[in-house]
Amino acid sequence: MIVIQDLWKSYPMGKLMVDALKGVSLKLSKGDFVSVAGPSGSGKTTMMNIIGLIDTPSRGSVVIDGTETGGLSRRELTRIRQESIGFVFQSFNLLPVLTVYENVELPLVIAKKKPGRAERRERVEYLLEEVGLGDRKTHKPSELSGGQQQRVAIARALVTSPKIVIADEPTANLDSANGERVLELMKKINREEGTTFIFSTHDPDIWEMANHIVFLKDGNIESEQRR
Ligand SMILES: Nc1ncnc2c1ncn2[C@@H]1O[C@H](COP(=O)(O)OP(=O)(O)OP(=O)(O)O)[C@@H](O)[C@H]1O
Ligand SMILES: [Mg+2]
Repeated sequence: MIVIQDLWKSYPMGKLMVDALKGVSLKLSKGDFVSVAGPSGSGKTTMMNIIGLIDTPSRGSVVIDGTETGGLSRRELTRIRQESIGFVFQSFNLLPVLTVYENVELPLVIAKKKPGRAERRERVEYLLEEVGLGDRKTHKPSELSGGQQQRVAIARALVTSPKIVIADEPTANLDSANGERVLELMKKINREEGTTFIFSTHDPDIWEMANHIVFLKDGNIESEQRR
């Protein structure tokens, strides 16, 4: 469902260009639970931002569900992103002035096809139960632990029922017990809803939980493991 072909990304650095990706090709299937592993600077964030249509490649193609995204306008890319892709960030990125409930509801409120209030409530409450925070709806993010905040962020990423969730180092700010709990939650949703997850990590215990591991090194795929 996601095919990337000969992806290059170059950034200007003074008079020179730095190649963050050097011809990466990759196929990800629907329902995959994919880990992107590799040392700092190997291109993990760059590759995931391009797959997530947040960033564009210098060269190469990204095909999502048969759609070649290279030819699309900004507006069309935004629509695919809003309808099909959820994001989870290392630093949670919750809005501090909103409650847990409001943070999770937000993508539905700003969606083009905005569901009605009752439908929104049902989905938000279902997900907050799923992530084990049904009793924290009215709390502010600052009143939660890091692991709890990341679980709110996962609920928010899932609220629009995206086909793909991209998570850049979702466990980097968590201790290992909370990191594994967040991964278990992602895995459960992957199993139950068939959502494709793509997450990056430096932690071997975390990448071992994937069924498809992509090892990046210096902007290239060094190896892949499927299981
Ligand atoms: N906006 C940018 N401008 C210039 N160079 C960049 C930019 N973003 C990334 N790079 C360079 O591209 C390379 C890959 O960076 P990237 O952030 O993708 O690595 P990463 O694998 O995610 O690293 P980390 O594990 O530290 O998050 C690095 O050499 C980085 O310095
Ligand atoms: Mg990164």
